Amino acid sequence: MKKQVVLYKKLSPTLMARLQAQAEVTLIDTLDSEGLARLRAALPRAHGLLGASLKLDAGLLDLAPDLQAIASVSVGVDNYDIDYLTERRILLSNTPDVLTETTADTGFALILATARRVVELANVVRAGEWTRNVGPAQFGTDVHGKTLGIIGMGRIGEALAQRGHFGFGMPVIYHSQTPKPAVEQRFDAQYRSLPHLLQEADFVCLTLPLTAATEGLIGAREFALMGPETIFINISRGKVVDEAAMIEALRDGQIRAAGLDVFEREPLNPDSPLLRLNNVVATPHIGSATHETREAMARCAVDNLLAALGGERPKNLVNVQAWKA
Ligand code: DGY
Repeated sequence: MKKQVVLYKKLSPTLMARLQAQAEVTLIDTLDSEGLARLRAALPRAHGLLGASLKLDAGLLDLAPDLQAIASVSVGVDNYDIDYLTERRILLSNTPDVLTETTADTGFALILATARRVVELANVVRAGEWTRNVGPAQFGTDVHGKTLGIIGMGRIGEALAQRGHFGFGMPVIYHSQTPKPAVEQRFDAQYRSLPHLLQEADFVCLTLPLTAATEGLIGAREFALMGPETIFINISRGKVVDEAAMIEALRDGQIRAAGLDVFEREPLNPDSPLLRLNNVVATPHIGSATHETREAMARCAVDNLLAALGGERPKNLVNVQAWKA
């Protein structure tokens, strides 16, 4: 008998056909209140779940007694209680690698947009207010040759370092749990303690996952260590940063600008003070959002789910202990 899969993210026709060849699929295509009610109704039959952008906590998963695997269409796994899943021997997989380069591109887009004030000045043109040549009040700051500071030197951090070092001639400094000699060699990068990185970098870029240890890592004390020329970039998770402290730092000129793809709450409240600050470029969590990459992520998730439901170890298994058990 085919396994039951609940899909809470739409797939391309090709991937849908592949999944349907192996499983009975229930598609929940919106996560509004009606969609969530349908999801709750489908969970009691589910052997597998595939989707993203939904907090799957014990309250929901207790409704799924036969659940064997969750394939998240994301690299981040902060929407899951990994201890709970492991205890229930539910295999959790994610989609690393395929989104690395695209997410680093997003990081660089934010670096360039904030430094050169691309959005703010494009809006001046769009508003028909470009009446004379720009002067110092509209000038930006250079990117090439400036110091790129990366916090969290994982795959995405490395891809950012590659762009900065080879593309823009930027000295790279980084902070991570442990020094990475191979990265240091490839990009001529240097390890720094967190306070030293914050004091030294022209661009402070967050690329680390949200965990209990990183939640609120960057707050008022950390912003105070940055300088008035520092540009802060976040392509990791909003909750790694104390958003209120960041707003203060941006308002008070403690830092120059911020390029933000992630927020404490998403979607960002339209009333957020961030949206009234000219020195903020805010994007709607588009790190991996290209046609090619989202399809590659979905393909990877389908592979992981089918492997798990077929009794094989998924390539991108997150909770290895659940497999060992
Ligand atoms: C990821 O893959 O984790 C992206 O941030 C999308 O959630």
